[in-house]
Amino acid sequence: MTQLLLGQTLGFSGNPWQIPFTDAVQHIRRGAVLIENGKIVAVGEADPLRTANPEATIADHGDSLIMAGFVDSHAHFSQTAIIASWGKRLIDWLNTYTFPEETRFRDPKYAAQIAETYLDLNLSNGITTACAYCTIHPESVDAYFTAAQKRGLRMLGGKVMMDRNAPDGLRDTAQSGYDDSKALLQKWQGVDRLSYVITPRFAPTSTEAQLEATGALWSEHPECLMQTHLSEQHEEIAWVKDLFPDSTDYLDVYERFGLLGPGAVMGHSIYLSDREWDAIRDSGASIAHCPTSNAFIGSGLFHATRSHAAGIRTGLATDVGGGSSFSMLRTMASAYEIGQLRGDALHPSQLLYMATQGSADALHIGDKVGNLEAGREADIVVLNLTSSPVIEQRVQNAEGFWETVFPTIMLGDDRAIEAVYIAGNQIDS
Ligand code: GUN
Ligand code: FE
Repeated sequence: MTQLLLGQTLGFSGNPWQIPFTDAVQHIRRGAVLIENGKIVAVGEADPLRTANPEATIADHGDSLIMAGFVDSHAHFSQTAIIASWGKRLIDWLNTYTFPEETRFRDPKYAAQIAETYLDLNLSNGITTACAYCTIHPESVDAYFTAAQKRGLRMLGGKVMMDRNAPDGLRDTAQSGYDDSKALLQKWQGVDRLSYVITPRFAPTSTEAQLEATGALWSEHPECLMQTHLSEQHEEIAWVKDLFPDSTDYLDVYERFGLLGPGAVMGHSIYLSDREWDAIRDSGASIAHCPTSNAFIGSGLFHATRSHAAGIRTGLATDVGGGSSFSMLRTMASAYEIGQLRGDALHPSQLLYMATQGSADALHIGDKVGNLEAGREADIVVLNLTSSPVIEQRVQNAEGFWETVFPTIMLGDDRAIEAVYIAGNQIDS
């Protein structure tokens, strides 16, 4: 089937963090996206594409904005049910809310139910791909990938490994973490649109023996990404210093065990020394920026401009449920606010890029999804740019394209998500 989506189209021919947005952005006021066999075949002006493809089924989205689906580069599907839990900082938050909830995922039925809720919430917010932490339970990984596979989604994720500083029932061992991860990786990596990600939670919850086994597993399976948390909160960093007195800094803990390299996705990375910034850049590792989480748990202000300027693959992430929203619009707004607090006014094109191509690059799938461009998989979101009274009245006074988009970034929610396409199929919302 050949389909033609009509509306305003937004794609990137370059990176607006590196070149002026006027050169990086391709916006067509009355544009069209031609889709065949689940892939984007052409993006261009509507009239010539209609004339050239008279057989195509038309979906006319009017003045709405057609762009690549959002890519969430770091989330915890297992924390869906505890999002917006009050009053704690990171370590207390983990012990009070997160660990008790994650214990429930030993039950495959519960894991399956939350996986469905998680994907429903992602899709209703225009997130078409995410890279998720499951729990220590292999059942949680099976539930996650089974649900994603059924819906035909491009999704990434893996079993959390932690063998200390977690409650009974929520620890594996160096050996079982390795064995279970390897079995899951062999079961899911590269199946349909799914990718397995080796997932040591963070340094404080792994013994040296576990980090060593994890490094070995990654070296045996370099086709997989590896994700973890890095330098999120001062108390956490002090704890890492205590637990690993021989390491020069937090990143060095991962480096020493072979857990730094292209394909490493470091969540947060707020308090990096110059040495750590350089080491991340030189290694080719990625960073996932989690602004709502960093504000909600009180972690701090990630330096997005520095990260992009260094050429580090930098994605945007909800970090649900430390993050306080499933909305990538709200997440972009939070990134904007954190930029302002650092003295950087991030341009809407930079926010939209980080939420799509930036995240896709951070996850090494930037040739498959993340941009509205011929050859990409047709995972697409359509944004209604007048989805609420406050946005509508603001847009009435807008001058130029960016003033019609920025109010939706700052004020929009799931009402702005007019349509979502997965591999060219519009899903029910
Ligand atoms: N550090 C270790 N585990 C977690 C987690 O689940 N969420 C966040 N935000 N930080 C972490
Ligand atoms: Fe996280």
